[in-house]
Amino acid sequence: MLSGRRVVLGVSGGVAAYKAAYLARRLVEAGADVRCVMSESATQFLGAQTLAAITGEFPVLSFWDEADVSPHTALGQWADVMVVAPATASTIAKLASGTSDNVLIATALATEAPIVVAPAMHTEMWENAATQRNIAILAADGAHVVGPAAGALAGGDHGTGRMVEPDEIVAAIAGALQADLAGWRVVVTAGGTREPIDPVRYIGNRSSGRMGNAIAVAAARRGAHVVLITAAAAPAVAGVEVIPVETAQEMADAAWSRCDDADVAVMAAAVADFRPLLPSDEKLRRGEGMPEITLEPTPDILAGIASRSPRPYLVGFAAESGSLEGARRKATTKGVDLLVGNDVASPGSGFGTDTNQVTVYRPDGSAVEWPLLSKTEVADRLWDLIRDDRQGD
Ligand code: PMT
Repeated sequence: MLSGRRVVLGVSGGVAAYKAAYLARRLVEAGADVRCVMSESATQFLGAQTLAAITGEFPVLSFWDEADVSPHTALGQWADVMVVAPATASTIAKLASGTSDNVLIATALATEAPIVVAPAMHTEMWENAATQRNIAILAADGAHVVGPAAGALAGGDHGTGRMVEPDEIVAAIAGALQADLAGWRVVVTAGGTREPIDPVRYIGNRSSGRMGNAIAVAAARRGAHVVLITAAAAPAVAGVEVIPVETAQEMADAAWSRCDDADVAVMAAAVADFRPLLPSDEKLRRGEGMPEITLEPTPDILAGIASRSPRPYLVGFAAESGSLEGARRKATTKGVDLLVGNDVASPGSGFGTDTNQVTVYRPDGSAVEWPLLSKTEVADRLWDLIRDDRQGD
C-alpha cells in the first residue's frame, strides 16, 4: 500500500508513544521507508533503540548530536509524508504556531510533504478551547487530522482523547498520499434536518451526520474540494467548506445552488419528508389544548438535482428497515447514478454508529453488497466506485 513511500514518523511525548512502535512496524510492513524523529519527552516513553530496530534507522533526537548538519531540513525534504503520532497538546500548539523549539517541530516546518496528525491526550486537554483552536488552525493549514478516538486513557480515565489505532493512521497516511480526486468539486449533505413546530420543538430524526462527514472527509483527503451541507456537527478539515443548515428548505437552497458547479453530489442526509405547514411563533402550551399540526411535503432535494441538465454525478442514500427492496426501487426511479441502501434496524448499521453495512444499487437494479465496515471505509469504497465510473465516462 505504501511501497517505496518515504514516511517520517514524528513521535511526541505522551503515553501513546508506545503505539508508535507498532505504527512504525505497520508502516514498514506496508512497504514504506520509515525514518523517525522524536521530541525529548518522547524518549521518556519509548526507547529510540526500539524504533531503530524496527525501521533500520536510528531516530533523529536533536539538532546537535547528528552527523547531518541540518537534520530537520534533510528529513523534511526527504519525506513524501510526515506523520506526528502521538501528537500531544503541546506539540499541536507548537505546530499550529510554528514554534520550532525542538527537532520534531522543525522537521514539520521544513517539510513540504503532507502532514498527518494523530492527537492523543486527556479529554479535558482535547476539549480545551486552546487545543480546539490549534487543531482547527492545523486543519485549515492542510494537516490531515486523524482522531482522537474515545476509550481508555492514561491513569484509568475514560473519554475522547485516545490516539486512534495504528492501522487507522496507516490508512490516513495512504489517503494523504492519494490524490485521485484532485480537482473534483463535490457536494455532500449530512445530518438530520429539523422542521420547527414552534420555537422549542421540531420534527427531527436520528441522523448524527457521521456517514455524510466520513464521505466529505474522505473526498477532501483524496484531493477534492468539498462543500458539506449539514444539519449536524461538522469536522474541521482542510478542503471541506461547511454550510450549516437546519431545515430541509435551507438544505435544498444550499444544495441546489452549489450543485450547479459540482462534479459529484452525495446526498447522505436524512431529510424530513414533511414539515409543519404553519409553525407557531410562540411555544405551544399544554394548557391551550391539543394542538393540531398540519404537515406539508418538504422539497425533494435529490429529485431537484436529478432533474437538472447537465447535472452532477448523483448518489442518493436510502435508510430502510428490514428489507432493502425500497432502496433497490429508489435506485431505478430516482434518477441517480448510485443509490446506497442501509438497513437502519441492523446492529452496527445506520444512525449514530461508527460502522455501516450498505448495499450499493445501480439504476439497472444491479447491486453490490459490502460487509459491515467503518463509515470511513464505506466512504472510501464509495469514492473508488464513483472514480471508476467517472473515469469510464
Ligand atoms: O448520519 P448517521 O447517523 O451517520 O446515519 C447515516 C444515515 C442512516 C442517515 C445515512 O446512511 C442515510 O441512509 N441517509 C439517507 C436517509 C434518508 O433520508 O433516506 P430516504 O430514503 O428517506 O431518502 C432517500 C434519499 O433522498 C436520500 O439521499 C435523501 O437525502 C434524499 N431526500 C429525502 C427527502 C427529501 N425531502 N429530499 C431528499 O433529497
